[in-house]
Amino acid sequence: MNYSELILKRYSVRKFKDQEVPVEDLKKMIEAAGNAPSGKNSQNWHFVAVKNKDIISKMAEGVEKSISDISSELPPEKAEKFNKFSRFATFFRKAPVVIAVYAGEYVPEGYKELLQTKASPEKLERLMKANPGIQSIGAAIENLLLAAVDMGYGGCWMTSPNHSGDEIEKALGFNKEGYMLVALLPIGVPDGERKSPPKKNVEEIMTVIE
Ligand SMILES: Cc1cc2nc3c(=O)[nH]c(=O)nc-3n(C[C@H](O)[C@H](O)[C@H](O)COP(=O)(O)O)c2cc1C
Repeated sequence: MNYSELILKRYSVRKFKDQEVPVEDLKKMIEAAGNAPSGKNSQNWHFVAVKNKDIISKMAEGVEKSISDISSELPPEKAEKFNKFSRFATFFRKAPVVIAVYAGEYVPEGYKELLQTKASPEKLERLMKANPGIQSIGAAIENLLLAAVDMGYGGCWMTSPNHSGDEIEKALGFNKEGYMLVALLPIGVPDGERKSPPKKNVEEIMTVIE
């Protein structure tokens, strides 16, 4: 498959066939992720591929518990709205494999230096918001998902479960000094129809300054 075809073939897969994903294939996906560019070549990522169904269930239970705990402190209408989207945070439960993505800390260039100046909090915040560490993780995840598509799989990039990071890490029993869970990627053979929202056209997202 050529690159343009691959880009168009990728979509967020939320339902999977009951078909295993061999470790060899997972290695190829994670190798593709590891070839992504990263700020100062920090390669500030780590990928935990979870194939154990009990652990995947416990991770999903952790997210469900967190959703119900948060909901219990919200006014009813806000709790209802929050709960309505809960399936978008828990559907990974039925995936044959879930890759937990960990990001290592990254201090943007100039941040420490700015701290020693009269730089405004807004200036510092702006620098942090564009944190190259998390941009690098995005590049790695996209590489991984495209490699998965190239091998006949599909997946979904998930950050909705992030509010349950502690619960997920507890279920995983994995932690790495200086690293934090930033996304879950359920991966498997897609089941059912492709469902993908339309994309903005290029004129809308492009500005040319000549
Ligand atoms: C950073 C990021 C976080 C996302 N988090 C979730 C998520 O938690 N749950 C979910 O169902 N989809 C999630 N998605 C998938 C988006 O909803 C999806 O990419 C978007 O609707 C476009 O659809 P497509 O991927 O099929 O092109 C996420 C995508 C990105 C890039």
